[in-house]
Amino acid sequence: MRIAMIGGGYVGLVSAACFAEFGTEVRVVETHPGRLAALREGRIPIYEPGLDRLVADNTTAGRLSFGDDIAHAVDGAEAVFIAVGTPTRRGDGHADLTYVHEAADQVARALTAHAVVVTKSTVPVGTGRKVAEILRRTRPDLDFDVASNPEFLREGSAIGDFMRPDRVVIGIDTDAPGGGERAREILHRLYRPLYLIEAPILFTSLESAELIKYASNAFLAMKVTFINEMADLCERVGADVHEIARGMGLDNRIGRKFLHAGPGFGGSCFPKDTRALVAIAEEAGAPSRLIETTIAVNEARKEAMAGRLIEACGGSVAGLTVGVLGLTFKPETDDMRDASSIPILHRLAEAGAILRAYDPAGMEAARPLLPEGVIYCTDGLDAARGADALLVLTEWNEFRAIPPVKLRDLMAGVVVVDLRNVFDPAAMAAAGMRYRGIGR
Ligand code: UDX
Repeated sequence: MRIAMIGGGYVGLVSAACFAEFGTEVRVVETHPGRLAALREGRIPIYEPGLDRLVADNTTAGRLSFGDDIAHAVDGAEAVFIAVGTPTRRGDGHADLTYVHEAADQVARALTAHAVVVTKSTVPVGTGRKVAEILRRTRPDLDFDVASNPEFLREGSAIGDFMRPDRVVIGIDTDAPGGGERAREILHRLYRPLYLIEAPILFTSLESAELIKYASNAFLAMKVTFINEMADLCERVGADVHEIARGMGLDNRIGRKFLHAGPGFGGSCFPKDTRALVAIAEEAGAPSRLIETTIAVNEARKEAMAGRLIEACGGSVAGLTVGVLGLTFKPETDDMRDASSIPILHRLAEAGAILRAYDPAGMEAARPLLPEGVIYCTDGLDAARGADALLVLTEWNEFRAIPPVKLRDLMAGVVVVDLRNVFDPAAMAAAGMRYRGIGR
């Protein structure tokens, strides 16, 4: 079986490598010259554990290839995936579909035989139908199907998420001639390895598949925001948010995941997808007050987090040196998009703090986004050296291994504000540090 993947970005590249690992031949189309050159030389332009090996193995095996020629890629492909970017459109919060529409048009021109054209990018409800319309308009003679197959993978564990998913969602256009049966058969065959491990594969309408993606991300963003509010409440009433999360999470209806309190959600998906869902809902006349509020609460939280450190330092950080552990929006990624570190560090810099920061993977991406004057350090201990206060922003594992006594010896002061609850409060207290976590 052969498929084409339009777009060698995060979702496109991970999906392509994983489909190839299933034994399918995948031709990836990447039009950005620098990115394409890198991929052809086996350099992976994104940080994702295990992806380099998967790409290398499948390229060597001849199942995975990269090029910029759509006609070559779609030639003989039974499925053509569109996995191009859908950034937030300026002004109205909607996803910008320019790249998706362009890709659909180019695919239509290039196809010579039947294929199912699948949107993998996160797209607003109605996009699948729009893609069908573009295909029909550009090539009235063409025999095709459309489908929607949103991707639920998380950065940092993308390969595991793809290979052992909680579910696969496939939206089919049942109004199409043939009732979408051909699309269903092709995608069923493509995902066969997942049937073998009994992953639930859910066939839905196009619209449902598109909405499931937004609804899932918005729900998770809301869950994180909820526990963040509970953390604030815990601090006021003397409860421990870890105990709350565990006690709640053991209820199967709630589930224990995504109940880690922190400095607010960020990343390439939650902020973008919550905004898009609000725009979709508003336009459809069924506004989502819950998600509007989630966004507002999360934004306010990011702003408020700098205040915690300032307060812990006695009301001012002017002239104080603050060591910062972690910058990315979560561990195991180099992604800085919408990371809470950005507003927090800007506020601290404005308040006159001298910032010594370290992140295991995100420092290059962080530089253009963080205030000028941030000192980038070689490791966590280096960031703590001589600092009056220490601020933990991302829960990288390597920070957990830092002994509190070592911090005490290296730092000039004793204030530790841990916005990810990485450290053990008792061990910190025993080392003589003035420690403040989240929600406990
Ligand atoms: C998310 C979805 O999980 C994934 O299904 C979708 O395909 C893309 O968006 P990702 O953005 O990679 O994945 O990160 P995720 O692990 O979901 O974390 C999102 C944000 O929420 C991070 O800033 C993270 O720190 C925060 N978070 C998550 C918490 O603060 N607490 C939690 O318990 C979980």
